[in-house]
Amino acid sequence: MSATPFTDRARVDALDKVRGRTAYAADIPLPRLLHAMTVPATIARGRMTEIGVEAALRVPGVVRVLTPADMPPPPAPAQGTEPPPPMLVAEIAHRGQPVALVLAETLEAAIEGAEAVRADYAAAPFTVSFDDPGAVRTDGEAPTFGDADAALAGAAVRLEAVYVTAANHHNPMELLSTIASWSAGRLTIHEGTQNASRIKHDVARLLRVEPADVDVLSPHVGGGFGQRGEVPRHTAVVALAARLTGRPVKLVLPRHQVFHNSRFRPHVRHSLRLGAEASGRMVSAHYDSLQQNSRAGRYPAAWYHAGPSKAYGIANYRGTCGDIRLDTPGPGQMRAPFEHPAAFAFESAVDELAIALGRDPVALRMANDTAIDPSNGRWLTSRSLNACLAQGAERFGWSGRRAEPGSMTLPDGTRVGWGVAAGIYQAAMHPAVARLRVGADGTTRYASAGHEMGQGMSTAIAQALIRGLRIDPDRLHISLGDTSTAPQHATAGSWGTASSVPVAAAAAERMTAALAELLDGRQVAGNMHQQLARIRRPYLEVEVAMAAPGQGPQHIERMRAGGSAIAGLHGTYPGFTALSYIAHFVEIHVAPRIPLIRVPRVISVAECGRVVSPRTARSQVQGGVVWAIGAALREASEVDPRYGGWLNADIAEYHVPVNADIGRIDVGFIDEPDADANPAGVKGVGEIAMVGVAAALANAVHHATGRRLRALPIRLEQLL
Ligand code: MOS
Repeated sequence: MSATPFTDRARVDALDKVRGRTAYAADIPLPRLLHAMTVPATIARGRMTEIGVEAALRVPGVVRVLTPADMPPPPAPAQGTEPPPPMLVAEIAHRGQPVALVLAETLEAAIEGAEAVRADYAAAPFTVSFDDPGAVRTDGEAPTFGDADAALAGAAVRLEAVYVTAANHHNPMELLSTIASWSAGRLTIHEGTQNASRIKHDVARLLRVEPADVDVLSPHVGGGFGQRGEVPRHTAVVALAARLTGRPVKLVLPRHQVFHNSRFRPHVRHSLRLGAEASGRMVSAHYDSLQQNSRAGRYPAAWYHAGPSKAYGIANYRGTCGDIRLDTPGPGQMRAPFEHPAAFAFESAVDELAIALGRDPVALRMANDTAIDPSNGRWLTSRSLNACLAQGAERFGWSGRRAEPGSMTLPDGTRVGWGVAAGIYQAAMHPAVARLRVGADGTTRYASAGHEMGQGMSTAIAQALIRGLRIDPDRLHISLGDTSTAPQHATAGSWGTASSVPVAAAAAERMTAALAELLDGRQVAGNMHQQLARIRRPYLEVEVAMAAPGQGPQHIERMRAGGSAIAGLHGTYPGFTALSYIAHFVEIHVAPRIPLIRVPRVISVAECGRVVSPRTARSQVQGGVVWAIGAALREASEVDPRYGGWLNADIAEYHVPVNADIGRIDVGFIDEPDADANPAGVKGVGEIAMVGVAAALANAVHHATGRRLRALPIRLEQLL
């Protein structure tokens, strides 16, 4: 299927979305629905000693209040599986943790009831700031190979610098929400998630029911990006509430509670030492990644090294990493979770190195091309970074850049900065199962693993099916994120397309072969629907399972049982490393009197294998660039040193970019299949889109002003 490029196609879900017909989880209308509201803890750490619900129960419309006393005992730990999240507990690990759930006939009554719940606490001392005396470092292990110290000592040019990235929060338009309802012992959960099977299995364990009796439906998600890869604490509590009351229950978490109860990008300090030969060849890197974590958080500080240890074939690399354990929620996945902050540090350092060497920053990067992944010695399937850099430089007009900082100005005194940076990201793949049915009635039904989070998964699958089948494209129904039609592994880590498109292409091939076998050499006119009608077959159905390179049937069985069977983590497969590549070119303008930074244009060129859906791929890259502009110039989650928790926990005070902040974003693709990665030759683009943009912006700020700013976000006040 990868022989020729795909043509542009509108999103299959576009019309429904613009007409407001798409139903997200909280839009599902159910009779006798109860509304729920959580009661957040008001201390940063300690124990809830007493909870008073009488006043809440007197609020007209309030039906019931659940407290930690109503929760079932936690399940016994099971070998090899992550524990499900705790439900309502009296032990408070961070401010804003829910301690009660109020159920009422209306949302207004639920809110009023939640405000009437009285809780007493025994507060304990807490630490929420990275630099508090009580904040101690615990060390982890990070990739190390060659002899970085010796190579640095022998290097012609050395660079040492510390970079800092701020904590950031997800703010998708769709709030975290859950609707749960029971019918004849079966539980149905509507929730926008990236991991419907995980919800199914975790809720079943917590509530002691069979996983087979739990269905999770997540056909549309209003933004995933890692926030919805894990099971929120409230999900099982809402399901329990529905069981106890015998009515469907809906909870939509208010925005400020989302801040306190979801994963976020932690604050990180990146310390870097780079050494290069006079030729520009980088020969040594020492990178220490020190991140904020919770007391028991598992988010791995070692993973910041995935990019820097592979990007340029540096033969001598010493990785160190650590956690500062704080009394905040645990950090977690957020679009290019490790790669975006690490690339800000590393690609800023490469820019500084280029200046120290007197080299053009594009040429320096191109001089550090590599055919192998130095972290494991394996060959890189399609190391196309130089092609991305060359195409980007050409489209941007990079040859017209004057190297001297501050040398490019507009007639009104506006300073112009041109910056470049690159990114890599794993090309991972998850086994998947797909079922395809072509009907004589003109319909085609397809169900597989995968979640449509707005990134265009269903459009990419449609591209593969429409290319591979002779069917009516307007009557193609694609079911995703539904545990009742196919096992649903997590859609994350940019493995969505590589996990869902090859299996769709294989299903189309299997269907074509099955129909040919059925026709047995007879010449029957028409498309597949018409052929089936003419031979009086109501439908034909095939099921296909596909594992990743190096995997076998046991991996498919593991995913059917609700487990994860990811391959290609950090790009590593048996025998090779597969990565996506990107180069970003950014122009910034710094206004003459008040040094406000504007970003009039960005050109990003990506290599992600065969581009299956040009429109949604382009849109993914534009979205990633917008988010990176936010991270580079606006966004920072501030902790409250007095009371714990997050201080600016709403989008009035947590600043994300608006339309007026965004200029032109042009996107290019190399668009060649990577046949080694998977049979369809596709790799991910969702996260790499963001990797390197923040460094390109900071490098452009240096080019415009001569100021090297090593901490994000870069705001007006840093340039005064
Ligand atoms: Mo992602 S940050 O793995 O959804």
